[in-house]
Amino acid sequence: MKITIFGSGYVGLVTGACLADVGHDVICIDVDEQKVARLSAGEVPIYEPGLENLISKNMAAGRLRFTTDAAEGVAFGLLQFVAVGTPSDEDGSADLTYVLKVAETIGQHMESYKIIVDKSTVPVGTASKVERAIAKVLEQRGLSTEFDVCSNPEFLKEGAAIEDFSRGSRIVVGTDSERVKNAMLECYGPYNRQRDKMLFMGVRSAELTKYAANAMLATKISFINEVANLAEHLGADIEEVRHGIGSDPRIGYSFIYPGCGYGGSCFPKDVKALAHTAEAAGHPADMVNAVERVNSRQKNKLFEKLYEAFDGQLAGKTIAVWGLAFKPNTDDMREAPSRSLMESLWEAGARVQAYDPEATDECRRLYGERDDLVLADKRDEALEGAHALVICTEWKAFRTIDFEWLRKTLLEPVVIDGRNLFSPNTLKAAGLSYYAIGRGD
Ligand code: UGA
Repeated sequence: MKITIFGSGYVGLVTGACLADVGHDVICIDVDEQKVARLSAGEVPIYEPGLENLISKNMAAGRLRFTTDAAEGVAFGLLQFVAVGTPSDEDGSADLTYVLKVAETIGQHMESYKIIVDKSTVPVGTASKVERAIAKVLEQRGLSTEFDVCSNPEFLKEGAAIEDFSRGSRIVVGTDSERVKNAMLECYGPYNRQRDKMLFMGVRSAELTKYAANAMLATKISFINEVANLAEHLGADIEEVRHGIGSDPRIGYSFIYPGCGYGGSCFPKDVKALAHTAEAAGHPADMVNAVERVNSRQKNKLFEKLYEAFDGQLAGKTIAVWGLAFKPNTDDMREAPSRSLMESLWEAGARVQAYDPEATDECRRLYGERDDLVLADKRDEALEGAHALVICTEWKAFRTIDFEWLRKTLLEPVVIDGRNLFSPNTLKAAGLSYYAIGRGD
């Protein structure tokens, strides 16, 4: 099948590479000339395990290419995927500028029947807006070319995107057209061999499914964080409670890891957008609002613990921060808890010595050169001359430490663990003051 994908960001690239890998002919379009030039030279601008190989393999096989030529892209595929960004507007709603721009572009160049596939995470009702935007341009061109718009949300986790695309739990398609249904069955056929993955539904249901899924997962996280904070006050240990509740299959163990708050490009943005959609529909979503509030509070947790540990005397202190990315196996620092921590530390007059296996360049890009930030090349270099260690991300490389050595290395024996990596007893036995999430002092 011939497929065109608008937007060579994270979702567009994974979708393009995975669809090419099962034999489709794919063209990826992006307005950023530099990005297209880099991709065409086999350079992948984002870190995602396996993606670079998949892209170069399929480029070499002639099934995947990149261009800025939108006219060529529109003429090429029967399926026109829209995988451009939908950043948060100031009020939390999703900004549809890029999505609607692509719709206009498709309308400008369309000469035959096309199926527009909304892959970007877009609010309920966007498919109708895309439809209207295309129809308007066609009308201006004096054409009545047929087209359909469907919704096909992505459920890709950063760090496991290729696995999620190839072996995800479901492929959701929102459409009421048989023609679209058949085309989507053909497109995803290789990923639906047991014929059990495709879920067809109404367009609005598909659009809402995406937000409901992310909001549900974010709810689990905020819920466990709330209980963790309660556990601290009540003298319980959240790790024991987590096992206690997770063993009930109706609850399950996944997404109930307490921590320093969820980050990334999806949960924060999608939870806010759903809250905004609900508000605009005249049905404020109380739970969704609370999920967001609990999370913003949780992101301050590490700073609060540090503040308490040093009796508010943080000015002039050097704090080692392990983990900058919002989660392991990515270099993404969008909405990462490490950022709230570092920004509060700087405000309090402290210095940060940070280490992350992948996100150091991203951190430099975000914050530039500054006197109160040292980016260490090695994990243990970040500890040199530091008063305390704070762990923000659960990278594997942080799980094994010689605690005796750690106590001797830190100027003050303070370890604040935002991911509950260690046993409080072991660290206390090594003479360290250990503060984790929901585990008492
Ligand atoms: C999330 C969803 O998991 C994907 O299904 C979805 O497709 C994607 O958003 C999207 O909308 O594109 P992602 O943001 O890559 O994927 O990351 P997750 O692995 O879900 O983690 C999100 C955040 O939750 C991280 O900061 C992580 O540390 C935190 N988290 C996760 C917890 O604090 N506790 C947990 O138990 C699980």
